[in-house]
Amino acid sequence: MATKKILVIHGPNLNLLGDREPKHYGNASLADINKQITEEAKKLSLDVEIIQSNSELEIVEIIQNIKADFLIINPAAFTHTSVAIRDAISAIKISFIEVHLSNVFARESFRKESFFSDLAIGVISGLGSEGYIAAMRYAVNHKEM
Ligand code: DQA
Repeated sequence: MATKKILVIHGPNLNLLGDREPKHYGNASLADINKQITEEAKKLSLDVEIIQSNSELEIVEIIQNIKADFLIINPAAFTHTSVAIRDAISAIKISFIEVHLSNVFARESFRKESFFSDLAIGVISGLGSEGYIAAMRYAVNHKEM
């Protein structure tokens, strides 16, 4: 069987992890989290590509040109604002899981609104970097309907 390809997208400001509001996002840097993701991918025999972008345009273009079988996305602030990224995901019809490091339901009320959750297979929120690991474990056995 061909190796399953997973794309992980980290949205805006997640490049600041480690320094950014540790009360919500913990002390791990994005590099630490990406190392965890890469190590888990190796164990699961997944081919993983990871990108971080602060640009809505860039994320839309990456999704339009996606080569992966499965998407794990933390849209960060774009979760609550981006019809453009939602429409790109809808257009290419890829299976995906929405991940948030913090529990968005325990924060400001605008964070409870997501342009992605109804399209996602599932949403993981509040488990820190473990959310990406859980999403990858799910992706291994996920079959397209
Ligand atoms: C976040 C939650 C969002 O509300 C916020 O804008 C982020 C990060 C999270 O991972 O908890 O930037 O997606």
